[in-house]
Amino acid sequence: MILPNPTEALTLNPLLNAITEDVMGFLNEIQLNYPQAISLASGRPDENYFNIEEFPEYFGIYVDWLATSSGQEPEKIRKSLGQYNRAKGIINDLVVRYLAKDEQIEVAPEDTLITVGTQEAMVITITTLCNRENDVILIEDPAYVGITHLSIIAGYQVEPVPVDGNGISLLKLEEKILACQARGKNVKLVYVIPDYQNPTGNAMPLENRHRLLELADTYGFLILEDNAYGEFAYQADTPLTLKALDNNKRVIYLRSLSKTLYPSLRLGVLVANQQVEHGGQLVALSDLLAKTKGYITVNTPSITQAVFGGILVKNNFSLKKINEPKIAAIKAKRDQLLASFNEYLTGENNAWAKGISWNIPQGGFFITIFVPFAVTKEEVIICAEQHGLIFTPMSFFYLHEGGKQQIRLAFSNVSEEEINTAVYRLAEYFKTKLHLTQ
Ligand SMILES: Cc1ncc(COP(=O)(O)O)c(C=O)c1O
Repeated sequence: MILPNPTEALTLNPLLNAITEDVMGFLNEIQLNYPQAISLASGRPDENYFNIEEFPEYFGIYVDWLATSSGQEPEKIRKSLGQYNRAKGIINDLVVRYLAKDEQIEVAPEDTLITVGTQEAMVITITTLCNRENDVILIEDPAYVGITHLSIIAGYQVEPVPVDGNGISLLKLEEKILACQARGKNVKLVYVIPDYQNPTGNAMPLENRHRLLELADTYGFLILEDNAYGEFAYQADTPLTLKALDNNKRVIYLRSLSKTLYPSLRLGVLVANQQVEHGGQLVALSDLLAKTKGYITVNTPSITQAVFGGILVKNNFSLKKINEPKIAAIKAKRDQLLASFNEYLTGENNAWAKGISWNIPQGGFFITIFVPFAVTKEEVIICAEQHGLIFTPMSFFYLHEGGKQQIRLAFSNVSEEEINTAVYRLAEYFKTKLHLTQ
């Protein structure tokens, strides 16, 4: 395509300008610009647990399993894995066994879609369910920017609901729904990350989960539950997901496999067991979602689905065992982080730090630090340059404004030793800031 004269302005999607900060772009760039700095900025899974050389073995296990269970020739199966495939996915029967076993979510294979990560699942869900004129998507604020920025660029109405230490504020949610209704708007979706939220690290207690489901019944909205970190709980006995508690089919469930297995597989599971009225008929929502997906990515790569299928078959449809060491490792990192905070930020020698505090996450990859000064994008650069540490300002995750005096640290893809050094450097940076702001 020949572009018009570059001096002529191209007419682009004006909504691109509504995204205040290209968070991912900025963080990638700063990591490239300061390669020596320790990065506690991105929630990447720990690469020490990657074994991609095992992929061919898993692929073979899947082919053998399908050959045995379906009676087809392995050669024919291999050929079909090189072809276009079903929009809903090809390993749905295996995935529902995993959901039942590990997460107590009981659904039929036809109620699921295997998607290109949960990011695609969000695109499919929003574009299938929402109309731009009347529907409002309520999101936790702060939230994972994948949902926020997608909704904005695609022109959907998205509004924030504050989160507190227990996840989305149910009081504010109800107020917001009533306010939307008073303006003639329809709250269609409420997006939440109940387990070890990105970015705060907080989790939603069981009673709040029940109450949120009740509110969905009362006000007739659907909950979009995003679970990317649920199994990374530091102790046993954690609440079930909203989907597992969902007796009235109010929840659309997004299960990312990026943190659990590999982001490079680009696999997510979308669970939608609702029936909806469409064209005067009741139809399965999952069928409509599959129709939409057909026009987005056609189908999720069969090759990566086969690898995941092989992982499930080999592990008897449960990822618990293979994730045990990863969970132990992330808990040890959280413990190291808290120990380093205690060493460098509390106690008599560190009286200067008394205005600094943090939450204590019970799972996941993130922690929030509260500081008595504003943390801007420029501060990230200063800290990287002068102290060799990269963090993320919490304000990046707010829809409009907020979190100006908060920092998100992601501690998943660094060693315990690096964490200790990072907290030491953070304390050095804080000292300069407190001195400057006194
Ligand atoms: C809460 C949350 N949801 C979804 C994603 C993206 O998941 P996926 O790689 O499955 O698209 C992330 C990635 O960081 C996340 O933190």
